[in-house]
Amino acid sequence: MIGSLFAWTRQLTNFFKREDSTDAGGSVVPVSLGAAHPPGPKGISALACCVSRQRDPLTELGKLARRYGDVVHMQLGRRHDYLINHPDHIRAILCAPQSEMARSTPPGLKRLLGRGLLTSQDDYHRRHKRMLAPTFHKELVRQWSSTIVRHCVRIRDSWRDGQEIDIEHEMQRLTLGIVLQGLLSVDLDEQTDEIARAANTLIEMIHCRTLPIIDDLLDKIALGRIRQFNNARAQFDAMVYRMIRERRVASSPAQDLLSNLLQVRDEEIGSNALTDDEIRDEIVTMLVAGYETTAHALTWTWYLLSQHPESEKKLWAELDVVLPGRLPAVDDLESMPYNRMVLSEAMRLYPPVWIVARRNPNPWSLGNDTLPPGSFIFVSQYLIQRDPRFFSEPERFDPERWTPEMAAQRPKYSYFPFGGGPRQCIGEGLARLISLLVTATIGQRWHLALAPRQKIELEPLITLRPKYGIRMIIKRRIVPLC
Ligand code: HEM
Repeated sequence: MIGSLFAWTRQLTNFFKREDSTDAGGSVVPVSLGAAHPPGPKGISALACCVSRQRDPLTELGKLARRYGDVVHMQLGRRHDYLINHPDHIRAILCAPQSEMARSTPPGLKRLLGRGLLTSQDDYHRRHKRMLAPTFHKELVRQWSSTIVRHCVRIRDSWRDGQEIDIEHEMQRLTLGIVLQGLLSVDLDEQTDEIARAANTLIEMIHCRTLPIIDDLLDKIALGRIRQFNNARAQFDAMVYRMIRERRVASSPAQDLLSNLLQVRDEEIGSNALTDDEIRDEIVTMLVAGYETTAHALTWTWYLLSQHPESEKKLWAELDVVLPGRLPAVDDLESMPYNRMVLSEAMRLYPPVWIVARRNPNPWSLGNDTLPPGSFIFVSQYLIQRDPRFFSEPERFDPERWTPEMAAQRPKYSYFPFGGGPRQCIGEGLARLISLLVTATIGQRWHLALAPRQKIELEPLITLRPKYGIRMIIKRRIVPLC
């Protein structure tokens, strides 16, 4: 019994250790046994906690935060984990230079994304962020709006009154379509389009490729599905490279992110352009980082609206006044503050990215504590955004919290759905634009009611998703001229 418990503990510890092999430039370094650590579960309760954390991370991390406070320390073998629950500490961690705090990324994701913004570090990351930032400038992002509205119209026209849909699935198809079109001018609904099919296979498989143990195992036994994934990736890559080559010589290239990436130059060190490999990695990164997060922000927004008819009515009233019988355009968004408040509140309760992890290559001071090198440091949007110190009645959906006056009263890092500091989301403006135009275009036409007996449970994977999907009944709104 003891023997198998020991073997199992070692397995768990190894699992944690392999995750870090290429991150933060450091391996797990033992600390002296006598070192004092912040409060947290110790010994066997740390092990028990680790097991429950795997099973139900949201509940378990919430319990730890309530019991131990702003800095929780957990040790399993030589691995040190910290859970940080105060906006000032969160700011210090997220805003620290990358040489002090590196992002921790699963290796499977690195194999898929190569060296894009999500997975790269230090000088390489800084150079790319500097070069890519202009392509996400407000003015360029606004150019996405006609693509977004066109895709929304297509989806809202495909629905029928009384139809039952899985809103998570619908939002994923919608945002994948928008992002593929905006990145590469590829139409996902064009079934003959080979790149769309390869992208679909890639996306379907992405979850198991990013779970460390499963990923390695599947690699070794090369199951049919994995071969399918590898083929899809090779096919996708070949096409992206081909598109890059064609675009480089095209006389009137399409207006999309690929064309923008071909034009970016590094002003700081002269005029170096991105290589084909660098562009491929950034394109795949944007695809992966952009579509599912936005889809889940929207999925939860529809769910919350269905549960709060008074908020839904307010949103409709705003849409009907601003858009009497016409489609929304980017300039209308200024006149839709309630739409914006609903989205902010939905991302508070259900942040699509619910936790981020960092590792410190060197000892790092946090308040009175020194974190040993190679620690895993977690900050959770889900926890802090439901903390009653910063949000009264935190479980209540209340878009009114997001009037500019109310929002200004809260500490900055009590709400950070898009992260912060050097690794802040580059797509924030785009994600907001897509989400607001989607709620406006679909909300103009349809009312979405939760299907009877639909069970809602959270599944915190890479993004925070509904474990059983969310089935909803579509009902046509009675709005003249819409
Ligand atoms: C509601 C939608 C979205 C949410 C909630 C979201 C959230 C986040 C968060 C929290 C991070 C930082 C992670 C960390 O600190 O470790 C991040 C990074 C990133 N996001 Fe987003 N994101 C969204 C949409 C998008 C879109 C639409 C794109 C691009 C098309 C995008 C591209 C990226 C990239 C490239 C990074 C890495 C930035 C870096 O490391 O410098 N995201 N996102």
